[in-house]
Amino acid sequence: MDKAQPRLLDNTGQGIVGAPLDRPDGPLKVSGTAPYAADVLPTGCLHGVLVRATISRGKVTRVDKGSLAGVEGVVDVITDPRMIRNPAQGMAGEAPVQTGDEVHYHGQPIALVVAESFETARDAAHRLKVTYEAEDGVAVTPDTAEQEVGDPDTAGDFNAAYDGAAVKVDLDYFSPSHVAAPMEPHAAVAEWTGNQLVLRSALQMVRFNKLEVADSLGISPDAVRILAPYVGGGFGSKLGIGPEAIAACIAAQKLGRPVRVVMSRQTVFDSVLRRSETMQRVRLGATKDGRIVALSHDDRVSNIQGEGFAEPVSQASQFIYGADGLSFQQTVARPAMTPSGSVRAPGEAVGMIAFEAAVDELAEKLGMDPLELRLKNIPDTHPMDGRPYSARRLADCLNDGAERFGWADRKMRREGDWLIGMGMASAARTNMLIESAARVRLTGTGAIVETDMTDIGTGTYAILGQIAAEMLGLSVEQVEVRLGDSDLPGASGSGGSFGASSAGSAVFMAAKTLREELAKRLGCEADDLTLSGGIARGGNVEKSLADLVDLEMVAEATIEGGKTAKESFSAGFGAHFAEVAVNEWTGEVRVRRMLGVMAMGRILNEKTARSQALGGMVWGLGSALHEEMMNDTRDGHVVTRDLANYHVASHLDVPRDMQVVFLEERDDEANPIQSKGIGELGISGAGAAILNAIAHATGKRVRTIPALPDRVIEAMES
Ligand code: MOS
Repeated sequence: MDKAQPRLLDNTGQGIVGAPLDRPDGPLKVSGTAPYAADVLPTGCLHGVLVRATISRGKVTRVDKGSLAGVEGVVDVITDPRMIRNPAQGMAGEAPVQTGDEVHYHGQPIALVVAESFETARDAAHRLKVTYEAEDGVAVTPDTAEQEVGDPDTAGDFNAAYDGAAVKVDLDYFSPSHVAAPMEPHAAVAEWTGNQLVLRSALQMVRFNKLEVADSLGISPDAVRILAPYVGGGFGSKLGIGPEAIAACIAAQKLGRPVRVVMSRQTVFDSVLRRSETMQRVRLGATKDGRIVALSHDDRVSNIQGEGFAEPVSQASQFIYGADGLSFQQTVARPAMTPSGSVRAPGEAVGMIAFEAAVDELAEKLGMDPLELRLKNIPDTHPMDGRPYSARRLADCLNDGAERFGWADRKMRREGDWLIGMGMASAARTNMLIESAARVRLTGTGAIVETDMTDIGTGTYAILGQIAAEMLGLSVEQVEVRLGDSDLPGASGSGGSFGASSAGSAVFMAAKTLREELAKRLGCEADDLTLSGGIARGGNVEKSLADLVDLEMVAEATIEGGKTAKESFSAGFGAHFAEVAVNEWTGEVRVRRMLGVMAMGRILNEKTARSQALGGMVWGLGSALHEEMMNDTRDGHVVTRDLANYHVASHLDVPRDMQVVFLEERDDEANPIQSKGIGELGISGAGAAILNAIAHATGKRVRTIPALPDRVIEAMES
């Protein structure tokens, strides 16, 4: 945006945008009738199961189809140089690495066994004999692998400021790999009609995925139609086209029959992009009265050779507080492990756990209230480039949360064997706008919204319907929302918390065009037009939509992405508070209550927004206390490859007293609907509040997450 946008949505007067409305797709989902990717089985569909490499690096020398002789129902074993090594990174828009017969990590898909039934395909995939030429001495851990040291991002002179600081901390943290493991595993059904491909797949970004399919297969994007009307969770793991989809497309073309490929949970763990483990070093220097003068956040993450993505660990550390000297340096290790990519709030989710814990340690050393320290160091402008912030209510969130949570009464206390403590942390997450198009069709009795935007469980169907209804004077029941079809206008897709603002802005703009046309037909100025209950009023005239619209009025609009970044810096801000009980003897941590206070621009649907914030906070809790992906240090294979061994927070781990509060905000700089990203702010900083509460309860710091009982005991005994 070149300048602040007028706030039309505050003047349409229907009260639909923002209201805590139910998701229209809810009944379909809970009744099991929403068609997910693998639910639509075309006639004659074959079933494919991916065969995965059992070496860390090397070559496939032979895939012995003869080893399946006599297994009834096996149709073919597909190997093809176009198969992909791992899912595409978000918004790649081109094929990911295609390996042919090369193996780059243990668990990499190398072939597809196709059979008449899923059971046969799975059985045969296990029986298939594959011969390899394995490379010797392959580094399969981040510590032993090649290290690419990046140039530091700096502002001011960190070293000088740090040397001169009166009070300093220099702290090391470690976080393990995480996996998204959405409820719906990655799945695809491919069907060709002549040279036209229809692919149903669980994907977050259809506009980009279409290009990734075309490039992978070497065909024109016009030959590809992707359908993803319902997606059962993504968290980043479905941003890019996956190996199951490309294998299904290749097999279906070769065999002349539709092919369905669904990943097992174990394959999801092995072959879908993980969140990188991180080593983080935070150095902070302050004056005696708590002004931060030196701020550095260095990290080492890992990804396989050939992947450009590196977990942006210090993303929020670069804009949340200021200092005279700042420095951020990243190193990327290149082990033969499952490639890494975006997982909910890439960067902030784990970066803020370490950074906000370090800020707490600085407060401790200063003998200062951690809330005070944070309030004192909120910068006037972006510390790295001087850009002004757009709407930013960080201080309000911190103060409001402290008040609600009873921060002033914070006292470490004991209840029998349990040590009780309170912690807090700031929340921050970058805000983005990505090019998006949408079409709105208005008839006399309702409207249809069309875009290839996806709903990955976040509430897209609800909020796009709300925006159109609000703008056009209709009820949400009168608006039908059609999503997840690549033949529809291309949107941002779901990712980076930008989907609602980006696709929502496109729907808003298309509806605004319709309003202008309606005003013209009514004979009034667009500014004088009010629409409600299917009636248009303006300039002392009143007409029903049915009278103004003959058959149909159609408008399509595109919002361009990224413009806002040049003028000002937009991010979501908030504050997390947690109270924990730590068992003195077992080291077990129970979270007693959590509060998140957030300001994230205009809230489009109070219910779906709250659910996103709560879900993020639960993941923050899981990151602090439970989640840990482990790899075998001999060959790199994933050891914790199901939800029994990879622990996520269960219902009993999550406190009943978990509150989310939204502070009213409009971000005029962000987009024409003044909203900001919501999906990822809830996780950003939440885990730090818990770590800080553990420190408050025990007087000791755990700097390796998750804070499992043995780590807590070790800290307490130190
Ligand atoms: Mo997100 S990790 O960009 O779905």
